[in-house]
Amino acid sequence: MSAPLLQVEGLTVSVNVKGRWLVVLDGVTFDVPAAGSVGLVGESGSGKSMTLRAIIGLLPSNGRVEAGSITFDGTDLVANPRTMASVRGSGITMVFQEPAVALNPIMKVGEQITDAVRRHENLNQRQARQLAVELMDRVGITDPANRVDSYPFELSGGMRQRVMIASAIAAKPRLILCDEPTTALDVTVQAQVMALFAELRDQLGAALLYVTHDLPVVASLCRDAAVLYGGRIMETGPIEDVFTRPRHPYTQALLASTPSIDGPTQRLAAIPGTAPGLADRPSGCPFAPRCGLAQPDCSESMPAFTGPLRGGLACHHPLVPGTLGAPGVPNPADQGVTV
Ligand SMILES: Nc1ncnc2c1ncn2[C@@H]1O[C@H](COP(=O)(O)OP(=O)(O)OP(=O)(O)O)[C@@H](O)[C@H]1O
Ligand SMILES: [Mg+2]
Repeated sequence: MSAPLLQVEGLTVSVNVKGRWLVVLDGVTFDVPAAGSVGLVGESGSGKSMTLRAIIGLLPSNGRVEAGSITFDGTDLVANPRTMASVRGSGITMVFQEPAVALNPIMKVGEQITDAVRRHENLNQRQARQLAVELMDRVGITDPANRVDSYPFELSGGMRQRVMIASAIAAKPRLILCDEPTTALDVTVQAQVMALFAELRDQLGAALLYVTHDLPVVASLCRDAAVLYGGRIMETGPIEDVFTRPRHPYTQALLASTPSIDGPTQRLAAIPGTAPGLADRPSGCPFAPRCGLAQPDCSESMPAFTGPLRGGLACHHPLVPGTLGAPGVPNPADQGVTV
């Protein structure tokens, strides 16, 4: 088997808060195969955005990588920041949650779409404009020849997200990072943008690393899943394993709290308790205080992340696939998560 396109291993990131360095990501390990699609899921604050920001080299100014590697196409981007700079925008691109914030309000959308690619490929103004029109057409923006000269405020939220996607695919990247790209959109537009992602995934051959709270979205779009909690990877594997035969009690609780695929979009809220704060990280498993199956050893030591990168697990007392562990926790298969 060929090496994965992206290998994140032991990635540890801290942020400085009032003079103290607090760990946000703690040994995060997973991989993304070439042309693969991985859904990175977890509750709010688990470190999903921070993981994407570390991969694309855009950590907040008070953040730093403490340890680990991010190997893209054979080169460790942590050890080679120059490669990181050249890879960003061509090899790896990112679609953000809020297009209104990510787009420049005083630059025409056509220029924004081709901004990075123009520099990489030395396109003149006419060629860049033509490319922008083609890309806008490709992502389903009607009348692109006129809209290419629009400013972001002249477009709807759905159109703006399509503009973001067009700029992310402009340079034919090998990996597209998506940070909740549809949550700011209304439900019908969400469905259209999701369909666009599915189409692009199949047509472009680019790999997707897709962050969302929405497990049915991951189930429909991605081949593999990585489950993040408290800055640690709890479980990784093919979607059908992780979503129908979860081994980690956290994965099971997350699935059980997922609203039905047909129901209204909601934030996940049904797991009792709250996620640990950065300043009070437990020394054992971060999920132990909320885990219905925790034993004394769970709060004493963090379980090592075991197994191959695909099919990894960090749990002292994993569930036996096919059985339901915690009493009272509904079966994920009944929650509308279909794979
Ligand atoms: N610049 C920052 N300074 C200090 N703490 C930060 C900073 N950015 C993020 N954090 C903290 O790091 C943790 C992980 O944040 P992150 O944004 O990666 O979470 P997330 O999983 O993307 O959550 P959400 O689903 O709400 O977007 C959170 O506790 C967050 O409060
Ligand atoms: Mg986030």
